[in-house]
Amino acid sequence: MSSLREGPAIVVRREDYAPPAFWIDTVDLAFDLDPAKTRVLNRMRLRRNPDVAPQALRLDGEDLNLARVLVNGGGCSFRMDGQTLVLENLPEGAEPFDLEIFTTCAPEKNTQLMGLYVSQGTFFTQCEAEGFRRITYFLDRPDVMASYTVTLRADKDRYPVLLSNGNLVDSGNLPDNRHFAKWVDPHKKPCYLFALVAGKLVAREQRIVSRSGKEHLLQVYVRPGDMDKTEHAMNSLMASVVWDEARFGLPLDLERFMIVATADFNMGAMENKGLNIFNTKYVLANSATATDTDFANIESVVGHEYFHNWTGNRITCRDWFQLSLKEGLTVFRDQEFSMDLCADPSARAVKRIEDVRVLRTAQFPEDAGPMAHPVRPDSYVEINNFYTVTIYEKGAEVVRMMQTLVGRDGFRKGMDLYFQRHDGQAVTCDDFAQAVADANPGSELSRLLPQFKRWYSQAGTPRVQATGRFDAEARTYTLELAQTCDPTPGQSDKAPFVIPVAIGLLDAQGRDLPLHLDGGPAVSGTQTVVLSEACQSFVFTGIDAEPVPSVLRGFSAPVVLDMNLSDAELLHLLAHDSDPFNRWEAGQRLALRRALHAIRAEGPVHQEPLDEAFVAAMRAVLRHPALDAAFKELVLTLPAETYIAEQLDIVDPQRIHAVREAMRSQLAHALHEDWIWAYEQHRDNGAYRPDPVSTGRRALTGMALTMLCLAARDNGNPVWPGKAYQRFKDAGNMTDRFNALSALVIAGLPLASEALARFHGMFKQEALVLDKWFALQAGAPDRGGNVLPAVRQLLAHPDFNLRNPNRARSVIFSYCSANPGAFHRADAAGYVFWSEKVIEIDAFNPQVAARLARALDRWKKLAEPYRSAAREAIARVAAKPDLSNDVREVVTRSLAD
Ligand code: BES
Ligand code: ZN
Repeated sequence: MSSLREGPAIVVRREDYAPPAFWIDTVDLAFDLDPAKTRVLNRMRLRRNPDVAPQALRLDGEDLNLARVLVNGGGCSFRMDGQTLVLENLPEGAEPFDLEIFTTCAPEKNTQLMGLYVSQGTFFTQCEAEGFRRITYFLDRPDVMASYTVTLRADKDRYPVLLSNGNLVDSGNLPDNRHFAKWVDPHKKPCYLFALVAGKLVAREQRIVSRSGKEHLLQVYVRPGDMDKTEHAMNSLMASVVWDEARFGLPLDLERFMIVATADFNMGAMENKGLNIFNTKYVLANSATATDTDFANIESVVGHEYFHNWTGNRITCRDWFQLSLKEGLTVFRDQEFSMDLCADPSARAVKRIEDVRVLRTAQFPEDAGPMAHPVRPDSYVEINNFYTVTIYEKGAEVVRMMQTLVGRDGFRKGMDLYFQRHDGQAVTCDDFAQAVADANPGSELSRLLPQFKRWYSQAGTPRVQATGRFDAEARTYTLELAQTCDPTPGQSDKAPFVIPVAIGLLDAQGRDLPLHLDGGPAVSGTQTVVLSEACQSFVFTGIDAEPVPSVLRGFSAPVVLDMNLSDAELLHLLAHDSDPFNRWEAGQRLALRRALHAIRAEGPVHQEPLDEAFVAAMRAVLRHPALDAAFKELVLTLPAETYIAEQLDIVDPQRIHAVREAMRSQLAHALHEDWIWAYEQHRDNGAYRPDPVSTGRRALTGMALTMLCLAARDNGNPVWPGKAYQRFKDAGNMTDRFNALSALVIAGLPLASEALARFHGMFKQEALVLDKWFALQAGAPDRGGNVLPAVRQLLAHPDFNLRNPNRARSVIFSYCSANPGAFHRADAAGYVFWSEKVIEIDAFNPQVAARLARALDRWKKLAEPYRSAAREAIARVAAKPDLSNDVREVVTRSLAD
């Protein structure tokens, strides 16, 4: 995020990796905390790395004021090379030496929220990826691991709580109403895991005993008024500790584990050793203020950061190109955690479908656009731009494929070997894959490892073309699989991937046939084949009648599957597939087919794009006696506009929006009685619990209410709007209340404005609820171009604050990134708004600006007039002379051919 608006952007290349010329063994940091001028005394013990030719020490720094440099207690010569501090005359030889550096910085002026900053009067740090250099001069790279001692000194009244990593070893009073706390971290760590917090906070505490009998203290720190919103985060943390020990044998290695919440945070949360810092959005929840989605997100983010303690902290990354080593693996682990907490298979499947939906609506477009990059990138300008869905979600899918190829037990063995080999080290993605393969000698992963690793080096989403052939005479069913992958920036030719494909064959009654692959032993249900060549055939024997194939069950690989199934076959899968993922997928394919047909048709948009068979199938799912509510809600949700757009070569966002709205409205009318039934049937007013069953019921009643309001809008019947408003007022929890409010807003009913005003009045003190209020309005369906003016008004609202990332996202991202029908305007006003905001935010927070800058990534696919207008808007941003490297990298790539 280098704030340096000077000099050319430097491209960092993976092939240029070189080990550090010096090691830093210990770091002793002393902070005199003051918002205007914080003093930092940094005393390090260094030694030369004997494996590297003797050279100068070059320490990273950014926006620091340097006051003093001492070597072994005496003065020494140094020079600045830009922001880098260079020391050329250090002691020669292998002996360690002391280096003392005294600097100051201005936390209250830190608007980037990287390094040391102030949020609501409390000090916080954020160091990943390269924020530590904004606190002191250092070798700010993850392969330099040191032991930290940290002393914090501050005013006692304003900063009663002083926290850092590890254990509190000393504390006490100082003159002038100040006090201090001294912390020692028992584990070596890279500097990106350093953290401190100082302010007025309170903690929910929980003591736990781990399997080995050790006692640990868990704490969740929040502002004094927020204690009543910490129970769920604490429960999630306890569940995380238990799960990692049970599933992977990984215990908590600290006496004390702390989570602290801040309202000003660029990301979701950060895994600093023993002192996780979280965006309030992923900590604070109670039934009155948080939705089911919030509860689920908190569980998975708390889990994610906790799981980093082993995958990321104990074993870290050698360099930032290896980011997916920790992020992909830890996302995989948090996905598994959330699934393992589900009591039944259907809830597990719901979680899997939600994860795949994220992958396909966000990562697939990234992989097909100007920012496409491999899971292990080859180069970057700004590392913050590479915390992407590819590194995270595709990276997690790569780990998941490894588990599929070696089995669940084999994967556990792989993890064990990984820790045996590399605990305490900074390693690469190769090291991880090698450990999993070595722990599973006869596996397909071990056999195909070098080729499997193409998932790390080749960008782009592979397409798998599947063709089935039934031979009645030979009683065989042959599945031919062929793979291709389109070029991506800098990679024109792709070699074949290793693709595990899980397959089932259904008979006419919808039952799974036993599978004999090439006459091999019978497998009941699902057989996973491994596609490793450009084209391969798999023959199933002993098949008496033409089956319906269910391919890529559970989404066994992150690929696009092209298989030309008929409507009848898809309806068969939707009605019967034993694999819940493919059952859902069949419904999505049917819906997508209808959407694409209506979009491609000539003339005005057909107001009833759906046929009776599709509607009947949706009714059957909705009324199904055995399926659960959460699954029904997923099936009845039409494919997202962005997902539909990805299927088209030329995208008219307005037409896509109109078609999807027409489909939704048709479902609202055609299933009117069924929605009433679903609403009455699943509505429950019992005590709130965020478990999968009641969450599913609330999701389905919410959807029903929206459908009933949509229908009411067209037929003018006031009954359901009235009921929705009543529900909004009486709801016993935020999920039901917000769903009712959304139903009114989405349907554009007159009662919506009344409800919105009331909602604001009720929750004006609750920042996270106000974020929802802003987001709902900025994300509302567009009617005659009404959303953009509303968005501009929201920006002028007294509660709006562009500097707070959550609030900025709630309005601007909800509009630019999550509301294509309102954003892509024929008059280009949406794009003009976007370019203004990118430039405005870039002046104080480049990381957030660069994320917003990606909203127009896919401009080349747009139809005219959108395409030219979008290019112009991007060019307008690119023409600004003093852009950050963050935004510059995004817009430059976007405009490249
Ligand atoms: N290590 C990241 C936080 C981070 C991201 C720091 C980018 C600096 C730059 C953390 O573990 C993380 O991945 N957080 C996610 C949430 C997670 C559940 C996927 C985030 O913040 O979005
Ligand atoms: Zn992470």
